[in-house]
Amino acid sequence: MYRIAPSLLSADFARLGEEVRNVVAAGADWIHFDVMDNHYVPNLTIGPLVCEAIRPHTTAPIDVHLMVRPVDRIIPDFAKAGANVITFHPEASEHIDRSLGLIRDVGCQAGLVLNPATPLHHMDHVMDKLDVVLLMSVNPGFGGQKFIPETLNKLRMAREKLDVYEARTGRRILLEIDGGVKTDNIAEIARAGADTFVAGSAVFGAGKDGDPNRYDSIIGALRRELARVAA
Ligand code: DX5
Ligand code: ZN
Repeated sequence: MYRIAPSLLSADFARLGEEVRNVVAAGADWIHFDVMDNHYVPNLTIGPLVCEAIRPHTTAPIDVHLMVRPVDRIIPDFAKAGANVITFHPEASEHIDRSLGLIRDVGCQAGLVLNPATPLHHMDHVMDKLDVVLLMSVNPGFGGQKFIPETLNKLRMAREKLDVYEARTGRRILLEIDGGVKTDNIAEIARAGADTFVAGSAVFGAGKDGDPNRYDSIIGALRRELARVAA
């Protein structure tokens, strides 16, 4: 019912394969892969070559979050590199419907990412092409920022839209949250309607002393919080 997606942004970039294996062994459902271009966002991270390099280290879905402009050119590269989910920001694409279609055409699940101030209506006319809606609860570009509380209201509104759509079509679109997710707020975020949780600094920060058992305990703690919501 709930998916936990540790963000590699806070992992040790010199040991990425090992970090991926350890975090999946500790119970991660997805690997969240933040792609930044120093243009759409003021930071520069990893691209398709790194995606391809980590692919053999896990069978868990790789969730590629594109913070790049333009979007379309790079989509097939990530599909070839083994991505399973590809999401992008509507502000970064000239033709949102086309970009979503392109992601599906290369065999991946497609999603839109909405920044804290980006309205939900961007999803309205492309629902049939969405597999995931990702709400940013921080401004994109950096890990370790504080969760913006207004996102809880936005999550509730998004949940309602997606539930109405599911009732009408029978198709479930995932509702993912990204930024500032910790053990002390994940339950509240789940109650507001999220089902998929990106956590970067919370997960990888816990293992900074190099002890992979730390990932078991942090992911276990996040799951215990989620179990309280489901109960
Ligand atoms: C921010 C990225 C996030 C980031 C989250 O632009 O999209 O995925 O890694 O990091 P935390 O969980 O530390 O807020
Ligand atoms: Zn992200």
